[in-house]
Amino acid sequence: MGCTILDYEVYSYEEVSSTNEVAKEIARRSEAPRIVVLAETQTSGKGRFGRNWISPKGGIWLSILLRQQTSPTEALKSTFLASSAAAEAIERGFALQAELKWPNDVLVNGKKICGVLAETTTREGSFKFLVVGVGINANVHMKSFPKHLRDRVTSLKHELDCGVELKSLTLDFLEGFDRRFKRMKQGYWSNLLQEWKGRASFLGKRVEVRSFEETLVGQALDIDEDCALIIRLESGITKKARAGDLQVRS
Ligand code: BTN
Repeated sequence: MGCTILDYEVYSYEEVSSTNEVAKEIARRSEAPRIVVLAETQTSGKGRFGRNWISPKGGIWLSILLRQQTSPTEALKSTFLASSAAAEAIERGFALQAELKWPNDVLVNGKKICGVLAETTTREGSFKFLVVGVGINANVHMKSFPKHLRDRVTSLKHELDCGVELKSLTLDFLEGFDRRFKRMKQGYWSNLLQEWKGRASFLGKRVEVRSFEETLVGQALDIDEDCALIIRLESGITKKARAGDLQVRS
């Protein structure tokens, strides 16, 4: 452990497998209620649906671990808080416009710049935690991404044509997440959801949502209080999607 920021014990590494995994390992052997794990690179960075998350030097790869019982809905709400905090930190720090894409992406100029992966304990009686893993493509060179991803992802370095200061962006993000998490605990979830929706440019548009079970195509109407996407299908029926990958369709 190196230092404490905002009551979080901070652990920084040059290289780890995945900050989410390291945060869980540390929490199993320590009593700390709040932990942040930072790494310069990850060798097995994890994305949603078991995907690989490319994590070269220059990015912000971090996990926040809170020792508490968390429902799957609260974990999803926490990903919303993390993406709002990342969007705000990017907008304030660099005067870029950041948009949010359901359920967990931050976009700049229509391309993904940040992703969030929350994990929680599902079994009763076992060690209880919520881990919120956040990856921000900060000073990441576009060449680090495979060719097939380059039209869908971006980095701050690419958008600004210069490098950014990682420490202040990390602190801005952590402060924004912590503030929002406390407000959620105080009962202000509806306001936080409103804030999230304010950056959700896909709302009202024709979208496609792919999950393991099905592909839904229709108009994105709204997000409900539990973070589900409400979609009006082309048949006129309204459905709720709880997980999946969303693309705006022209
Ligand atoms: C996604 O959009 O699919 C989620 C990506 C989450 C990536 C971050 S990087 C830090 C933390 N550690 C991981 O292994 N994954 C998350």
